[in-house]
Amino acid sequence: MTGHVLITGGAGFIGSHLTDMMLERGFEVTVLDCLSPQVHGDAEMDVDGWPVYLNPGAHRIRGDILDDGVFEGALSGVTHLCHLAASVGVGQSMTNIVDYTRNNVMGAAVVLETLSRVPHTVQRIAVASSMSSYGEGEYRRIDGSAVAPPTRGHDQLARRDWELELEGESLAPVPTSEDKPLQPTSIYAINKRDHEEMFLSVGRALGIPTIALRLFNVYGSRQALSNPYTGVAAIFISRLINDQPPLVFEDGEQRRDFVHVHDVANAFATVLESDLRIWDAFNVGSGQAVSVNEMAFTLAHLLHKNIAPRILEQYRVGDIRHCFADIGKIERVFGIRPERSFEDGMAELIDWVRVARKPTDRSEACLQELSVSKLVV
Ligand SMILES: NC(=O)c1ccc[n+]([C@@H]2O[C@H](COP(=O)([O-])OP(=O)(O)OC[C@H]3O[C@@H](n4cnc5c(N)ncnc54)[C@H](O)[C@@H]3O)[C@@H](O)[C@H]2O)c1
Repeated sequence: MTGHVLITGGAGFIGSHLTDMMLERGFEVTVLDCLSPQVHGDAEMDVDGWPVYLNPGAHRIRGDILDDGVFEGALSGVTHLCHLAASVGVGQSMTNIVDYTRNNVMGAAVVLETLSRVPHTVQRIAVASSMSSYGEGEYRRIDGSAVAPPTRGHDQLARRDWELELEGESLAPVPTSEDKPLQPTSIYAINKRDHEEMFLSVGRALGIPTIALRLFNVYGSRQALSNPYTGVAAIFISRLINDQPPLVFEDGEQRRDFVHVHDVANAFATVLESDLRIWDAFNVGSGQAVSVNEMAFTLAHLLHKNIAPRILEQYRVGDIRHCFADIGKIERVFGIRPERSFEDGMAELIDWVRVARKPTDRSEACLQELSVSKLVV
């Protein structure tokens, strides 16, 4: 199936890769993006003010989905919608609560109300949700039973006692499946949960198949390296390129699921192309658990920097210990499996870093800001 896909936030990290892939698959693509300064401020732009990496084959609309008529104006001839536009930053969302909620929740509301109010040709919707909605990942007790533990309390974290326990029993992290109850612990995560539920509920009411993809930690080329609120790989690269140690919360042994942007774009492209009439949420991850320390050492090695991470032994309020994806459901339903290994994905990222503009390291200022707000303890 082909058609005309509108990608909100299409000039961003994930959106630009999805733009390439949808064009390759024969779709007409329109990118709607406000070119947020926090994301694009330090990037290399063309004469018209768009990121140089953005595929020239896509139509471009510069506009904010919150502004009157902008989203409606972009809908002409659109058959597929992929909604990626959002403010993306867990820590920042805890201080800029109004901005995050306005952009993320009201942004989703504008998109959905427009679809329910005006005549249009949209037949299929995909929306970016996030693993952050899970809060803590899934664990097993010693007897093998599954458990979704509450987040760690202040008393435990104040003792620098990082691992999860329940009633004095140590818990073992296991891959997190879509059945785990959502327990978002930040405004961003709450926004993303709302996003997902709003899209699934209105999509169902309108009879438009809608799929929410719960993305795990996405990495790869074109991620905004100078944005201190974005992904950990980009933040660590920015530190290392500037000969500074990556700043690591807790002891660095917390594990995440780093999924390459190619696999994320492939997941969006595949669910958009599919003709399954469903309304559901799916994990998009690599299925591998990698510690934050491993990420820091791998990046230092690949960038030829002999710099060890600085282990802060401090914690970010609301941070979770371990969360990595069970990727069985998306494979069973759509046949989607990760194609990029961690090694290949990291090589793609580093090749791009070598030719990208040198990033400005803003991590210390960001840490200071979070400490002042008592969000880092
Ligand atoms: N990167 C990750 O690890 C990750 C993980 C989970 C979920 N997600 C989700 O994936 C989506 C894309 O993330 P990304 O990493 O590409 O982020 P990004 O910041 O690179 O891209 C987001 C784009 O949206 C645009 N935008 C923001 N608000 C807008 C508005 N009101 N109107 C129009 N454009 C707007 C920005 O200018 C930017 O180009 C987001 O919804 C994010 O929440 C990302």
